[in-house]
Amino acid sequence: MNNQTKIVVVGSGAVGSTFAYTVLLRGLADELVIIDKNQDKAEGDALDLNHGLLLAQPMKITAGDYPDCKDADIIVITAGAAQKPGETRLDLMQRNVSIYHQILTEILKYNSEAIFLIATNPVDILTYITIKLTHLPKERVIGSGTLLDSARFRYLISEKMNIDPRSIHGMIIGEHGDTELAAWSLLNIAGMTQEQVKEQSRYYLSSAEKEEIYLQTKNAAYQIIEKKGSTYYAIALSLARICEAILHDQMSILPVSAYLDNYKGISDVCLGIPSIIGKNGIEEVLDLPLTKEEEEKLQHSANQLGNFIHQIQL
Ligand code: NAD
Ligand code: LAC
Repeated sequence: MNNQTKIVVVGSGAVGSTFAYTVLLRGLADELVIIDKNQDKAEGDALDLNHGLLLAQPMKITAGDYPDCKDADIIVITAGAAQKPGETRLDLMQRNVSIYHQILTEILKYNSEAIFLIATNPVDILTYITIKLTHLPKERVIGSGTLLDSARFRYLISEKMNIDPRSIHGMIIGEHGDTELAAWSLLNIAGMTQEQVKEQSRYYLSSAEKEEIYLQTKNAAYQIIEKKGSTYYAIALSLARICEAILHDQMSILPVSAYLDNYKGISDVCLGIPSIIGKNGIEEVLDLPLTKEEEEKLQHSANQLGNFIHQIQL
């Protein structure tokens, strides 16, 4: 990685443009290039963001095209169709696979060394498709996975317990979608697991509370899409967090969508599993000590994605 850091974002819709704004606010890179098939949108966003430079961090922001992917450290792809109210993420699959086909062909003409960060839905499937179409090393293709779901999960627990979500360690794993699961056995607050806390403790969650938190997490996107059409702030922050871990080689553990090869018997699918993220991308996928029930749910999530992957026409 050279000293000057460069991020390219492909897709400047709700998610891509909010991500671009987050990069500016955080001063995440020296250069940001915005690409969209709607060139006016990319140019408008670049202008608008540049007008904020004085008030944020110095960096170079331009609207560009695929040759600008050259020398990028990270290429974030948010382009594609988004869910309409009532649609699932998997409903978008074939449409977005075709879009990825075009986009990846263009990017690879100019850069096959970057880390590819995938946000488009269904994110686990598009992460998988990116690996298959590009033949890039699997550690350099990262899906945003269940980082967003885990942020929602920790927020909801934090509300219940009245504790900072950063002090709550817990995660959602599996598909970023309807078969995701809460790894309740690994939830801990200051090292205390749910098994260890007493029923009257503020840290204790009843079965009913757990189920409510899980359902609210799983259905959060549907609720937001119903109310305002799309989700973009928290995913933009999630993408920025992954970029930060890569660009600063932070070796942060984040539940991203990673390619699995014999992970608890699961192979040839991408799923959200906590992984160490550093300058090489996915440095390691953590072997979680899940309960038998959690392993079965993870396997179910993998089977669901595997079934969908088999229907894809490349
Ligand atoms: P949007 O419709 O606002 O933006 C999509 C953008 O992609 C548009 O600007 C469009 O012009 C562009 N685009 C389409 N085809 C393109 C192509 N071939 N080349 C370049 N640009 C192209 O949608 P959005 O709300 O920004 O959502 C984008 C994607 O992100 C959706 O698939 C959505 O489901 C997904 N998403 C994922 C998460 C997550 O957690 N991974 C969260 C929120 C949204
Ligand atoms: C989310 C998107 C829609 O906000 O995947 O979860």
